[in-house]
Amino acid sequence: TPLKIVTLLGSLRKASYNGIVADTLPELAPAGVIIEALPSIRDIPLYDADLQQESGFPTRIEEIAQKIREADGVIIVTPEYNYSVPGGLKNAIDWISRLPEQPLAGKPVAIQTCSMGPVGGARCQYHLRQILVFLDAYVMNKPEFMGGVIQSKVDEQRGKLTDVATIEFLGKQLSVFADYIRRVG
Ligand code: FNR
Repeated sequence: TPLKIVTLLGSLRKASYNGIVADTLPELAPAGVIIEALPSIRDIPLYDADLQQESGFPTRIEEIAQKIREADGVIIVTPEYNYSVPGGLKNAIDWISRLPEQPLAGKPVAIQTCSMGPVGGARCQYHLRQILVFLDAYVMNKPEFMGGVIQSKVDEQRGKLTDVATIEFLGKQLSVFADYIRRVG
């Protein structure tokens, strides 16, 4: 059976550069690997234990969690906000972390960040790794993908990643991640 990898997008906006990169991943998947986007984390209320007690988990969180449980691995594709993890992504992870049989525990995870700055979201990656340590996810160390100056590497009209070196690097990261999943998953 093929390996199934799901992508979790940390940006909420429609024209997201990270979204363009995430959308390109299925085409770059190595043989025997299927990559699918998780539902959007847009419109998820802020985590509030009272809300959880009164109304349970947001349907969207339940959907995302179920798809993570069924997947062999997760790729988090996200921008960096103020040198860290965007609040919307942190909030979604906070909700997911409160579910019984926490879905990220023991789950192979790869991180990709893209930003308009030259560092490509590197500082966000290390904060995200710290969060995932507490959740006991198995975050792959290398290769790290940091897509700097991403606006110069995509065709915004067509919503496509166009930079050849970036496409090649991502293809390589995906095949290393598939091997990683087979080893630790
Ligand atoms: C940013 N941006 C940004 N870029 C970066 O390289 N380092 C940073 O710390 C930040 N901080 C930051 C904070 C906030 C609140 C916003 C809105 C933006 C710029 C960011 O890279 C740019 O907006 C990207 O286009 C966001 O990714 P998406 O939405 O295109 O995927």
